Amino acid sequence: MYLDNAATSFPKPDSVYEAVMNAMRDVGASPGRGGYRRSLEAARIMFQAREAVARFFSVSDSSRVIFAHNATGALNLALHGTLVAGDHVITTSMEHNSMLRPLYALQKKGVELSIIDAASDGVVSVEDIRRALKVNTRMIAVSHVSNVCGVIQPIKKMAELCREAGVLFLVDAAQSAGVLPINVENLGIDLLAAPGHKGLLGPSGTGLLYVAPQVSLKPIIQGGTGTHSSSVEQPLIMPDGFEAGTHNIPGIAGLKAGIEFILELGHLAVYQHEQTLLNLAEEALKKIPGVTIYGPEDPAARCSVLSFTASDVDSALLAAELDQGFDISVRAGLHCAPLAHRTLGTLPGGTTRLSPGWFSTSEDIALFSDAVVQCISKIRKRF
Ligand SMILES: Cc1ncc(COP(=O)(O)O)c(C=O)c1O
Repeated sequence: MYLDNAATSFPKPDSVYEAVMNAMRDVGASPGRGGYRRSLEAARIMFQAREAVARFFSVSDSSRVIFAHNATGALNLALHGTLVAGDHVITTSMEHNSMLRPLYALQKKGVELSIIDAASDGVVSVEDIRRALKVNTRMIAVSHVSNVCGVIQPIKKMAELCREAGVLFLVDAAQSAGVLPINVENLGIDLLAAPGHKGLLGPSGTGLLYVAPQVSLKPIIQGGTGTHSSSVEQPLIMPDGFEAGTHNIPGIAGLKAGIEFILELGHLAVYQHEQTLLNLAEEALKKIPGVTIYGPEDPAARCSVLSFTASDVDSALLAAELDQGFDISVRAGLHCAPLAHRTLGTLPGGTTRLSPGWFSTSEDIALFSDAVVQCISKIRKRF
């Protein structure tokens, strides 16, 4: 039983597997690298995928969508492609290392960094961000939903603050894309980074960055684009200049199919399904003595994941027992977000996290809950 959809979604819809196979077996070629029909077919797949992403996030010009290899690639491009020495950036203690590590690297190059501590339930105060603004603040960079406790941050209010202060707004939608509605243009998001392989149900090795028209972005990778080949400079044309090298066409074809699957369902259906399962899990876990659930108390204030600890039980050992004894996949530890665990008070051991997906069922959750009871009691007896 797979309950780690926050890491990557599994299984994928059949249409995703078929699209990947079709792109590999029947198309095969690279887009923009030849005038022959196979190459044109690959270019057509990529254009349609970009249009699907644009429709999904309400982007009016699909050329503002850059394909990346994952959310990490998209975040690195957003950060290294905009920030320069002397700029100030505000982020939060709830971020994943894929946001924090590029920021620490930029800090070494002269970018000023402020990390706003969230409250102990993971909620970031917009007023705390406002107080951290400086004359040289260039960007506010936050995750929409925490991969540790699922807290949903008030991105609408944060976007308003960014507009008021005239700073860029970068949103890491790794845990929200495909679950919560995101209209980048209505919200006023300047940069949106998302993985293709989690809630959008695409294959591994896919991600995307939306870049609003007012953002001037520098490419961070130089290489062949299939266009402007005589120029010694990397072209700045969107999106080609930012996608140097051969594209992951099978992945992009699969991502298109994943997005179309969710567009057909409507993400409200996904959200409601996952919330029902998370609520069932929470009810069952709360009955186990010594279990603590993290994040806001109100289940409506979180989504996608549920993190918990059990007293006297190591979270990694619990995950290992669930895997070995019951073939249940959940992730334990720090989830690449050490500051979030510091905020929630779950250092050094972290938490055990479950993240159901569209294909998970209430039977899965019942089996999971029973298995957790048995594993906890086994571990407690052993130590
Ligand atoms: C909140 C958050 N941001 C970024 C990432 C990085 O995503 P990717 O693995 O696609 O690079 C993750 C992955 O778990 C995440 O949960």
